[in-house]
Amino acid sequence: MKIIVTGGAGFIGSNFIYYMMAKHPEDKIVCYDALTYAGNLETLENAMGNANFKFVRGDITSRAHVEAFFAAEKPDIVVNFAAESHVDRSIETPDIFLRTNILGTGVLLDCCRKYGIKRYHQVSTDEVYGDLPLDRPDLFFTEETNLHTSSPYSASKASADLLVQAYHRTYGVPATISRCSNNYGPYHFPEKLIPLMIANALADKKLPVYGTGENVRDWLYVEDHCVAIDLILRKGRVGEVYNIGGHNERTNLQVVEAILQELDKPASLIEFVEDRKGHDRRYAIDPAKIHEELGWVPATSFDAGIRKTIQWYLAHKCWWQNILSGDYQKYYERMYGKRTKLEYAK
Ligand code: NAD
Ligand code: TYD
Repeated sequence: MKIIVTGGAGFIGSNFIYYMMAKHPEDKIVCYDALTYAGNLETLENAMGNANFKFVRGDITSRAHVEAFFAAEKPDIVVNFAAESHVDRSIETPDIFLRTNILGTGVLLDCCRKYGIKRYHQVSTDEVYGDLPLDRPDLFFTEETNLHTSSPYSASKASADLLVQAYHRTYGVPATISRCSNNYGPYHFPEKLIPLMIANALADKKLPVYGTGENVRDWLYVEDHCVAIDLILRKGRVGEVYNIGGHNERTNLQVVEAILQELDKPASLIEFVEDRKGHDRRYAIDPAKIHEELGWVPATSFDAGIRKTIQWYLAHKCWWQNILSGDYQKYYERMYGKRTKLEYAK
């Protein structure tokens, strides 16, 4: 089986590649990634020597390049993680979100139609459902919840989901979609809440909490997300949407306090700052469908996961300090600058 993993140099895609290489060593994996500011080839260093792994630099919005790539690689499965993923950036510059998340998905779907694949999987987000009120803890997102987006990021992800469903219905593209809650774990880019707070606390810098810190996110350890996607690829029903989440709801303030406590740092580092525009109040997934149909249950509780994550950041300071200094962006040139280009490289 040959699997294309787009966006595999980012947070979840790289964790997925490592998970799949360990779980299904017989499969061939080709990572296709543009290496935007969020893509880091150092993250894939431990995969590079594996004969069943290949990295190709490319942009999912570049139709000719993606077509040539599909023609050369002839994948069985495509798992699309490639996206602009940071809500705050989407509020600053929506355009790139529309291009990558919507048009890029369209290019991949066209190539799947043209070259034929066994499965296209779209990695989506619970943010497509909008938010829930803070005073209704009884409410959860199910797969039937209406799409109701708040940010340019979530609107672009919802648009991509609609395109995937349209290509399935109209052209019969064998597609599945997963909508997962907030992930955390190794290789999380230090602009997102958890790694940013860990890095700042370690440097005794202020921890910027938006608004009152009462917004709620439903946190899932990244490996549990990878297990769920693998199950959907192997046993999920084509044309279906699967929600993924483990009932680990925490307010942002609770998350930040847990990090401070684990690192033995004072609460005085917390600084309340101006709220995010359109800030979603609460996300909460009902995972009944994936549990009942595919037997998925998360293995890692929030308390265990946050401890593991902090230990990982302590043990891999070079990885995130390289990112903060900007040095990681020079890695590609060092590794690949002088290598021969593959035949479909443009
Ligand atoms: P990330 O920002 O860490 O990684 C995104 C990757 O995509 C990077 O390696 C980047 O270089 C690559 N990329 C961006 N634009 C590209 C393009 N035009 N062509 C090819 N590659 C491109 O993101 P992440 O947090 O790993 O999220 C991965 C996917 O999972 C996204 O689709 C996101 O919407 C979804 N998701 C994320 C979360 C979360 O908590 N992080 C939760 C649910 C769903
Ligand atoms: P983030 O990690 O950006 O994920 P998302 O917006 O996709 O849920 O943010 C998680 C929550 O943390 C969100 O409610 C915004 C909040 N937040 C802060 O309070 N301070 C910060 O510096 C960041 C990056 C996020």
